[in-house]
Amino acid sequence: MTKNSHFVRVLFLFCAVCAAVLFIPTGVGAPAPKTKLLSAHDPQVQELLSKMTLDEKVGQMTQADQDFLKDIGDIRKYYLGSLLNGGDSDPKAGNSLAAWTDMYDRYQSEALQTRLRIPLLYGVDAVHGHNNVLGAVVFPHNIGLGCAHNPQLVEKAARITAEEVRATGINWAFAPCVTVPQDIRWGRTYEGYGETPEMPSLLGEAAVRGFQGQDLSDPLSISACAKHFVGDGGTTWGTGLKKMLDRGDTRVDETALRRVHMQGHISAIRAGVASIMPSYSSWNGAKCSGSKRLMVEILKQELGFEGFLISDYNALDELPGDYKSQVEQSINAGMDMVMVPQRYREFFETLKGLVKDGKVPMSRIDDAVTRILRVKSAMGLLDKNRSQLADRKLWKSFGSSEHRQVARELVRQSIVLLKNDHHTLPLSKQVARIHVGGKSADDLGNQCGGWTITWQGESGNVTPGGTTILAAIRNAVSKNTEVTFSKDGTGAEGASLGIAVIGETPYAEMSGDRADLRLAAEDVRAVDNMKRAGIPVVVILLSGRPMIIEDVLGKTDAFLAAWLPGTEGQGVADVLFGDYKPTGKLSFSWPRSMSQVPIHVGVPNYDPLFPYGFGLTY
Ligand code: GLC
Repeated sequence: MTKNSHFVRVLFLFCAVCAAVLFIPTGVGAPAPKTKLLSAHDPQVQELLSKMTLDEKVGQMTQADQDFLKDIGDIRKYYLGSLLNGGDSDPKAGNSLAAWTDMYDRYQSEALQTRLRIPLLYGVDAVHGHNNVLGAVVFPHNIGLGCAHNPQLVEKAARITAEEVRATGINWAFAPCVTVPQDIRWGRTYEGYGETPEMPSLLGEAAVRGFQGQDLSDPLSISACAKHFVGDGGTTWGTGLKKMLDRGDTRVDETALRRVHMQGHISAIRAGVASIMPSYSSWNGAKCSGSKRLMVEILKQELGFEGFLISDYNALDELPGDYKSQVEQSINAGMDMVMVPQRYREFFETLKGLVKDGKVPMSRIDDAVTRILRVKSAMGLLDKNRSQLADRKLWKSFGSSEHRQVARELVRQSIVLLKNDHHTLPLSKQVARIHVGGKSADDLGNQCGGWTITWQGESGNVTPGGTTILAAIRNAVSKNTEVTFSKDGTGAEGASLGIAVIGETPYAEMSGDRADLRLAAEDVRAVDNMKRAGIPVVVILLSGRPMIIEDVLGKTDAFLAAWLPGTEGQGVADVLFGDYKPTGKLSFSWPRSMSQVPIHVGVPNYDPLFPYGFGLTY
């Protein structure tokens, strides 16, 4: 072990001890949030609740996906309290800013025709910008934000996201994800800010502040949703879907659950988060979505969470028993709103029946609806003098260059320099020729990753307005510098240097669970083809997690982890050419081989290739 890496290890251990001490569970409720308490709205809420029928109450607890509405009239018929666009749910009229806005206005107008005119809370996975909508700014995924470790900028990015979401009228984001991934084979690793509670706590709180602003009633604020409660990133290999990790079982005692996996939620509650999403996963064999210990005793009683719990997508279907017992268990365990994209009619009738049969007490229904209406009141949705339709003046800043500049700054700060032999970097903008290679050099889809335009994301030119890394390099160099490109890296002979952009193609959730995190053969070939040209080679890795890179690292002169930077590839060029000195620090330790996965934080002789907190600069 070199002296330098020994120092970094000591630094890392010091940080880990501080983090552990700082986050030792006190068992006391989270400090009062800085923003106005949601319970301050109870007088207005109770007055409205007293007028509501059982149908109207159960309707508020029902969230359908707009794509699966059997009839737009169902919004009124079932008094739906919420709609969502799931990852692949686009407006019928197609994917454009106008189509999304018209869709929202049409559904909201329907809800405003119900007897009590209670508007919809309309949710979407705006997890790295308003990423479902063509032309939106797509920010780096959370793993990159964790390496940027800049809460002010994360708050600013969330604020911009809120504004772009509001431009379509929508008023709720299922973000931030405050998961603490412990096994990078998990397909949702990139949705986490880091492998310790440190970044999820710091940046989760910042994101909530950004989304919700100083006041939820601000027309530019949207409700946030901390997810997924709790321990979603701590599942054991083999217990999840496809016998891998996603939605598996987290086998830790309560002290470890609190110390590692709960801190992001505690910070989000402190910031006044309006909603929390229980996890598909289990804790010691018990599904979170059916756990009264987790949802009532810890979240609502001990931590004093005053908002509402929204289930994950059809998560109740994964509870034991038939549908009726699943609904009974989850609602009685504290679930307040249920995401039933397709089966909303069945859920509505089932829950009504359970109340009528005395299986779900009306007091539980009233508690759930109180929590939902608190958020609607705080957002100004119960203000009859206020328009609840989209403010189309916000279209002018949607995808704007000002918004893209903030994303570019985050890209710069998210990049971690892992190797820089012979001061290869920063590059000169005056060299005769740069040869660029790799499958991801000119691929916006690979740059953005999952949750981009579609649920899984895809390679290719997925959205307008972005800048690929190849284009960014071309933008940055002098007019005398030639930039050539080949996907496989051939043709580099004679160039001054080569840049290979390699890594993962997009995935989301269980589709990204992988037993083997070595680089794809085509990526290794691209680096080899460039190395064979006898020129210095810089590798840029675009991935949702650390990968096993030892068979490439030795061949390169410089190596950058750029994670999933999103649409603003110019930020990568800023670092390559020294317009910004790299400041990124690993928020995930980097294993040497698969034998070091899952991470062994705190275990003696855990000697990763690069430790937590590592990052070089110029
Ligand atoms: C997904 C995810 C969750 C997301 C929800 C709505 O399955 O688990 O993070 O917010 O469904 O799309």
